[in-house]
Amino acid sequence: MIPLSIPNLSGNEWKYIKECLDTNWVSSVGSYVTQFENKVAEFCGVRHAVATCNGTAALHISLMLAGVGQGDLVIVPDITFVAPLNAVKYTGADPLIVDVNEGDWQMDLDVLEDFLKKETRSDKQGCIHTATGRRIGAILPVHVLGNIGEIERLLRLAAAYGLPVVEDATEALGSWYRSGHAGSFGLLGCLSFNGNKILTTGGGGMILTNDEALAKKAKHLTTQAKSDPEEYFHDEVGYNYRLVNILAAMGVAQMEQLPAFLKRKKEVRQRYAELKEIPGICTQVVSKEVDANWWLYTVRCPRQKELRQFLKAQKIEVRPLWAPMHSLPAFSDGVFVRGKGNSDKLYSECLSLPCSSGITDEELSEVIGAIKKFYR
Ligand SMILES: Cc1ncc(COP(=O)(O)O)c(C=O)c1O
Repeated sequence: MIPLSIPNLSGNEWKYIKECLDTNWVSSVGSYVTQFENKVAEFCGVRHAVATCNGTAALHISLMLAGVGQGDLVIVPDITFVAPLNAVKYTGADPLIVDVNEGDWQMDLDVLEDFLKKETRSDKQGCIHTATGRRIGAILPVHVLGNIGEIERLLRLAAAYGLPVVEDATEALGSWYRSGHAGSFGLLGCLSFNGNKILTTGGGGMILTNDEALAKKAKHLTTQAKSDPEEYFHDEVGYNYRLVNILAAMGVAQMEQLPAFLKRKKEVRQRYAELKEIPGICTQVVSKEVDANWWLYTVRCPRQKELRQFLKAQKIEVRPLWAPMHSLPAFSDGVFVRGKGNSDKLYSECLSLPCSSGITDEELSEVIGAIKKFYR
């Protein structure tokens, strides 16, 4: 089987984890947690990074810190992995789902702008969705598949309507828009290090911010809101969301290899580019402002379902895109701002191909050969 996207653990992972075990520093206190935070902050060009047990927890805390609460709506894209919408729900808010752009597959900003103009009003509580009378608490753009949409335009829109931006950059470690790293544009940004990401700690996440007070509060909330170093005094409801030292050690080892992982992802993308010679096959549009990480190489292709079955039979692991969020039972009765129905189209036509950073040239040739054979 040629796997879709698996970890690449060829560096100092064993050595650093063994050191944690040998020294007994296995839990949420330990020098690797801070080291990992510092390395990620430096790489992403932000002042602060707070490590969490996963990306979903990072999103939950970031939304809370952005002021999202009970009864609010949060603007999210229709095509994404489900986690950011779940995180919105954890705060007591509901997602307000916006269709995606046919070109870059990110939240459609024409649709969003039109919606904000025609379907919201402003009062002393902030930006109100006219039809439901509910406050819109934040915009949560997701940098889907490691691409970044028109983030500067999104920030302008958010500022015009007084909406904080929390970026879901969980798929976008190593992606830049001009000179800014994904996750560094909004009030807060979130990363994930789960098993299929470019860099993995097995499970893990990070909150990025340039705001010192928010970073402090993020650390406080993710460590049970304990306000005294000795006494068990907790000044509010806290969360057990801190990353543990063993996993942070793995993260430090993975960070040492990140440039090599990103280089390989780009080589994989170069190889797969020849698939575009097949009529009807294309990828997401990446604008000239964006240097994308090509985290999960995904094509839009004719007869997606048949191709999927064909490749599976050849022992090549592929995956469809996530079902559009408006179609999931948990969110289907919420607010969905439909544009041209692009998310439904992309869902039925897109397929992610094997693209682990450890994939060999021979494996890539096998995948490309199989796809060419299918369309011949
Ligand atoms: C877009 C997106 N958001 C959030 C997450 C959640 O991250 P985690 O699995 O670390 O909780 C993921 C990946 O899993 C993701 O792809």
